[in-house]
Amino acid sequence: MAFLSDTLARVKPSATIAMTNRARELAAAGRDIISLGAGEPDFDTPAHVREAAKQAIDRGHTRYTAVDGMPELKAAICEKFRRENGLSYRPSQISVGTGGKQVLFNALMATLNPGDEVIIPAPYWVSYPDMVRLAGGTPVVVMAGVETGFRLTAAQLEGAITPRTKWLILNSPSNPTGAAYDRAAMRALTEVLLHHPQVRVMSDDMYEHLVFDDFEFVTPAQVEPALAGRTLTCNGVSKAYAMTGWRIGYAGGPEELIRAMATIQSQSTSNPCSVSQHAALAALTGPQDFLPEWRRVFQRRRDLVVAMLEGAPGIRCPRPEGAFYVYPEISALIGRTTPAGTRIDDDAAFANALLEEAGVAVVFGAAFGLSPHFRISYAAADDVLAEACTRIRRFCATLT
Ligand SMILES: Cc1ncc(COP(=O)(O)O)c(C=O)c1O
Repeated sequence: MAFLSDTLARVKPSATIAMTNRARELAAAGRDIISLGAGEPDFDTPAHVREAAKQAIDRGHTRYTAVDGMPELKAAICEKFRRENGLSYRPSQISVGTGGKQVLFNALMATLNPGDEVIIPAPYWVSYPDMVRLAGGTPVVVMAGVETGFRLTAAQLEGAITPRTKWLILNSPSNPTGAAYDRAAMRALTEVLLHHPQVRVMSDDMYEHLVFDDFEFVTPAQVEPALAGRTLTCNGVSKAYAMTGWRIGYAGGPEELIRAMATIQSQSTSNPCSVSQHAALAALTGPQDFLPEWRRVFQRRRDLVVAMLEGAPGIRCPRPEGAFYVYPEISALIGRTTPAGTRIDDDAAFANALLEEAGVAVVFGAAFGLSPHFRISYAAADDVLAEACTRIRRFCATLT
């Protein structure tokens, strides 16, 4: 009898881990490595949020809470959805979990049966396909490349839907591309969905607050209220409030689904950390005035990185609407050779050589389902970004 379960054969370990480990090894050996791989803001959690957590500890909020979130936090999330998205949810339609990741996972676990299909536009956040497989479903990956601005079109969506389609996962602004759907692009998709009542929408709005140039963020249930009953609107405090380590994510959706998600959570982790829930409450109800400044800083960094990479031989770098990633395209560099004699056969070879020979760690596109690309996270200081881009330009110029 095999020790490890058959489930494990359906998923692969994160493709980015080997890269991160190698970057760490090189740095430990004294090499000057710039790491642009991490998917988290480089700001600190705001002081009033940290203070709320300290007070929560001192006031004894250190015990189990309701499984899928304490009532005060659910009320604050309802208010957030009303205020920022024009969505009207009751507390019984809210689920709070240990990060957005657990909320998405719970929803898939609670709904997928063998043979159920989940449409995932590529490039995608690395976890979606493996989460679907873990939950017993079948990922249906649809390429949404640079030619459509990394956005799924209505025709592509229509072509991917079958009688077995249970979910469409949408992520705007996107990890890894930063691309976002404006109202018209979102409406084109919701129009298609109106004709297919068996398809539910999982909208991953994690980067909602990080949009630039006055871009208006929209979410499917807001653009098409008729879809609200089959939409799970997912969000969290990790990216907007620089709280990746606190592990609080949440979603609003139909009660039947929210109850099923609570059942899954009750038999796995129970409630998300009580102290973190109080911190999230402070984040959602407290001052939001630091957000415009964070957006300004990220927008400046985006412009810096796009301008510098557009000047690199063989790289095309689209300018994204949001998040803190760019996803440059490198087809002109495939087949070239590095000064150390490595052939760039694909984007993994490019990223490895860039790390080994130029000391810059990025994530290769194959990890996100669309090649040949690489992802840069520009959640780093301007001078670090400028130095990294200078190294990338120099590296590309030396390829023969
Ligand atoms: C698109 C997307 N969704 C969800 C998550 C999960 O966020 P968390 O579990 O920290 O709330 C991430 C984190 O990287 C992400 O990039």
